[in-house]
Order: sequence, then structure tokens, then C-alpha cells
Amino acid sequence: MAATIIDGKAVAARVRAEVADGVAAFIAAHGRAPGLVGIQVGDDPASELYQAGKARAADEVGMISRRVTLPGATTQAELDAIIDDLNADPGVDGMLVQLPVPDQLSEPLIANRIHPDKDVDGFSPISLGRLMRGEPGSVPCTPQGVMRLLREGGVPLEGAHAVVVGRSLIVGKPQSMLLLAAHCTVTIAHSRTRDLPALCRQADILVAAVGRPEMVRADWVRPGAAVIDVGINRTDDGLRGDVAFDDVAAVAGWLTPVPGGVGPTTIAYLLVNTLEAAWRRSGSDSYQGVHL
Ligand code: GUN
Repeated sequence: MAATIIDGKAVAARVRAEVADGVAAFIAAHGRAPGLVGIQVGDDPASELYQAGKARAADEVGMISRRVTLPGATTQAELDAIIDDLNADPGVDGMLVQLPVPDQLSEPLIANRIHPDKDVDGFSPISLGRLMRGEPGSVPCTPQGVMRLLREGGVPLEGAHAVVVGRSLIVGKPQSMLLLAAHCTVTIAHSRTRDLPALCRQADILVAAVGRPEMVRADWVRPGAAVIDVGINRTDDGLRGDVAFDDVAAVAGWLTPVPGGVGPTTIAYLLVNTLEAAWRRSGSDSYQGVHL
């Protein structure tokens, strides 16, 4: 069996087109475009690329994007003051601080400082609490992209056994909640899970989000299963996912490539979150909690 390859670029293009329509409607209703601010501390080249990609994507759908680039030695107090200014700025609907941040800064303090209504990453305690409760709010972008890829691929969700490998706040934990909300039976696995290959073989849906190049091999995959590769690993041989693509493609029913799978949908859902934050902040009842 050869897996159906789910084309993340094509799916992301559709999401972006939907957002562009939504931005036009927002401008018509409110006379201004949704505003997104990306904050970067230091000059990590990967963060630089991500930030540039996010700003370009926002501009392309008609939003107003702004980039704030701070010195690597920025203190927590200095960053807090900038976040506070953006929290108070009526033209800013969403902001994010690109991770990872330098050691003198605290991710939890940042996540707590950003106003939940502007938290387009969905990492704040309020946003994550809303996700647990099934209430409308910002949901982390990568897991939303994964759900869209599964739906566009036509992967049956209800009653399926989903195994999520990885327990991060950015992917593993929120991914598990979204799959649960879609009526999957969910197992969260991690580096200390016993006999990980055997557990993964029980999955109808396998989401790999561990950051280990090509860890998931063909004999980890039940024939016909959907395999979603969230890994982005820079190796000497180039960009690699967490899944051994060629081997697994021969066994799986569906598979996402790296690059061109989950990555493009992550940025697309940052735009969705920004548009939804703008509607929510405007008090419009046209906003619906669409994800759960
Ligand atoms: N670094 C890696 N992924 C992400 C993300 O989704 N958001 C932010 N802010 N930083 C990241």
C-alpha cells in the first residue's frame, strides 16, 4: 500500500484564502485591518526565518504586521514593558514572542503577561484552560493545523485511537485535547513510554512531535494508519521530520511530508487566530468558537 500524501501547502493555501476573505469582511465592518505583532529576542537564524514568514503571510492576507526585534540581552522587565504597551494598543489584535527565548527570560512569565485576548499562540494559562473547557479562545496553531490536515485528508476521527508522541505545551498537550474533542480515543506517549513502537502500532492516527529525526520507522506503523509528522529537524542531510518518510509511506494510509506538511498549516492558523482575536476583541457576535 502506498500512503496518500496530504499536501500541507495546498491545505494552507485554502486556509489563507479563507482568512483573506475574513480580513476583507473585518475591514468592511470595522474600517481597519487586524494587526499582528511578532516579537523576537536575539538573532537566532531559525527564529528570524519564522518571524519573517509569519509577517509576510499576515501581509499577504491583508493584515497589518509589525516585527519587534530586541537585543539578546533584553531583560524580563524590558520585555514585560513592551508586552504591556502592545496589550494596551487598540490596533494590535494579536502578538507572539518567538520561542525559544534567551535564558534570562521566562516562558511562563511571558505567557502570563500577554493578554489572553491577544494571545494568538494560545500558550497562556487562560487560553489553555479555555481549550480544556471547550470554550472559544486561541488554540495553539500547530495542533489546529494537524486537525485540518486530518479532516482534509478524509481521515476518520470518531472512535479512532490516536497516539500523540510528545507532551509539549506547544503541540502534544493541546493536540491531545483537540483529538479528544473530535471523539478520538487518545494516548499521550513520550520518551519514557515503555515499548513505544508497540504502542504506536496500535494507532489509527499517529502524531509524531518529538524532535528526533526519522524516529518513527515502518514497523511502528499499523498498515493503513494516518501518520502526521510534526518534526522539523535540521540535520547534516537537510531538513528531516520525526518519521522515516519513504519507509513509512509504504505502510501508512495517509502521511504528511517534511517540509510541506504541518509547517505551512501552522502559519496559516496563526492568521486564523489573529482574525478570530480581532473579531472577538471587536465584540462582534459573528465570531464563533469554530474549533471544538
Ligand atoms: N517556536 C516554535 N514554534 C513556535 C510557535 O508556535 N510559536 C512561537 N511563538 N514560537 C515558536
